Amino acid sequence: MDDLTGRVAVITGGASGMGRAFANRFAQAGMRVVVADVEEPALDQAVAELQSAGAEALGVVCDVADHSAVVELGDRTEEAFGPPQVLCLNAGIGVSGPLAEASMADWKWVIDVNLWGVIHGLDVFLSGLIGRDEGHVIFTASVAGHYSFPHLGPYAATKYGVVAIAETLHAELRAEGSKVGVTCLSPGLVSTNIFSSERNRPEVLTDPSGEPRPEEELAMREAFLEWVQANALQPAEVAEMIHRAVLDGTFWVFTDDEHRSAISERHAAIREREEPPPYAPLLDI
Ligand SMILES: NC(=O)c1ccc[n+]([C@@H]2O[C@H](COP(=O)([O-])OP(=O)(O)OC[C@H]3O[C@@H](n4cnc5c(N)ncnc54)[C@H](O)[C@@H]3O)[C@@H](O)[C@H]2O)c1
Repeated sequence: MDDLTGRVAVITGGASGMGRAFANRFAQAGMRVVVADVEEPALDQAVAELQSAGAEALGVVCDVADHSAVVELGDRTEEAFGPPQVLCLNAGIGVSGPLAEASMADWKWVIDVNLWGVIHGLDVFLSGLIGRDEGHVIFTASVAGHYSFPHLGPYAATKYGVVAIAETLHAELRAEGSKVGVTCLSPGLVSTNIFSSERNRPEVLTDPSGEPRPEEELAMREAFLEWVQANALQPAEVAEMIHRAVLDGTFWVFTDDEHRSAISERHAAIREREEPPPYAPLLDI
């Protein structure tokens, strides 16, 4: 897309972290932004800040796991601003732990939000974008959609799925000569609130038999969070990359090269029909 002024962006998971930074960046570019999120107080705050900075912004409380809520998001967007041109399928949550300890509730929650949320977004918005033959879809995947890090099995399963959907859509649109662009964003570590995703876990998907985590694990988590806060990329830096990708029509956006060699080694092992290489940890601390 060449000019974003006056165009409409819909951002799921737009009340925090990267989604919030996308909303700010697209608003700075003169877009009207629809911020969709399940966390109402954060959503209200994000929209109030956008509006006080002079942006035209609409907040819609929306659980992307609920198809009817995403249909309503489409209707509210049309009513307020007309059809969107930029669609950021970004809402996501993280669960971690070894596969042997993953509960059915963990699996269901992460698939509902990270995978069904993306599918619902496509169902509601994609045919309009294709029909108008303009626009851009940004999928927020992860480096965990390209490489299987230990203790991220259910999360990675959803992100591999998102990468597959993004690649497929890109191939289909290019084959049809469509002007709709696609970006697959695969962030490494970014300093956001993803590491406290539990704040948004529905009560029905809380595991009643969940044991309190051992002291040692909690200490490691603290060290990890400190590292992320001090060293990880800021969401605004990722938003710059996404703004540029929409203008340039870039498909792959990786936010850093930290896991590039691990991903390449995985590809090489597949090519050579070898066993997967030993794990590279997400973070070496
Ligand atoms: N932060 C990282 O290091 C990192 C790395 C790779 C990928 N990601 C991906 O980036 C995306 C954005 O996450 P973030 O890191 O900005 O985290 P974040 O927690 O700061 O933001 C995620 C937003 O999604 C919202 N959300 C959660 N469940 C929802 C639901 N059911 N319906 C609608 N909204 C919902 C949250 O309320 C929050 O506002 C996610 O898809 C995540 O998997 C993050």
